[in-house]
Amino acid sequence: MITACIFDLDGVLVDSAKYHYLAWKALADKLGFEFTEKHNERLKGVSRMKSLEILLEVGGITMTQEEKEKAATEKNELYRSYISKMTPDEILPGVETFLKEIKALGIKTSIGSASKNTSLIMERTGLSKYFDAVADGTMVTKAKPDPEVFLKGAELLNTDPKECVVFEDAEAGVEAAHNAGMRAVGIGSTSTLGKAEIVIPGFTGFDFKTLKDKID
Ligand code: BG6
Ligand code: MG
Repeated sequence: MITACIFDLDGVLVDSAKYHYLAWKALADKLGFEFTEKHNERLKGVSRMKSLEILLEVGGITMTQEEKEKAATEKNELYRSYISKMTPDEILPGVETFLKEIKALGIKTSIGSASKNTSLIMERTGLSKYFDAVADGTMVTKAKPDPEVFLKGAELLNTDPKECVVFEDAEAGVEAAHNAGMRAVGIGSTSTLGKAEIVIPGFTGFDFKTLKDKID
């Protein structure tokens, strides 16, 4: 039985990954090394500080804790300047149709995101109205693949994790869903998300019946 759906935000509901990339790239440019989109793949689903550590590893750079805090803050300020201009047009194709369908069917919905900027993105894009709960980076201490953020979402919805399905674009997120005892729909390609129960390229043409037929 599926009674709740929990959605990652970045890369699942909105294409904010491009803004994360631009902001990290600006930092790498300043530090004097190349940071490609391929490098950026490693940052998906990963917390801000861990992302910085990966970026510094790519550039072969060491920083003190204080320098790291400063660099992460600088990146976040630039990132927030981008996302504060987001509009509802940046909701990914098919997402709103699917959200409207499941709400009409009485399925409970929560966000399950590592981002501490979740509320700004939801406000700017108008996504808030589709969600009964939000579990995000401001509420958890353990990063995906730890299940904490998804278990928090299930708790806020007052739902058994076994009845929750998670939608994720990151491998660590699919693992986190399984670690929470939930099933996962991967949004993207089977090459990275092959462990998910279903993998779809995006929400266009996807509906609750297809979900139920495949995993219920
Ligand atoms: C995740 C993104 O959703 O949130 C990561 O996939 C990002 O790339 C992480 O680092 C933390 O986001 P923020 O907005 O708190 O820096
Ligand atoms: Mg994501």
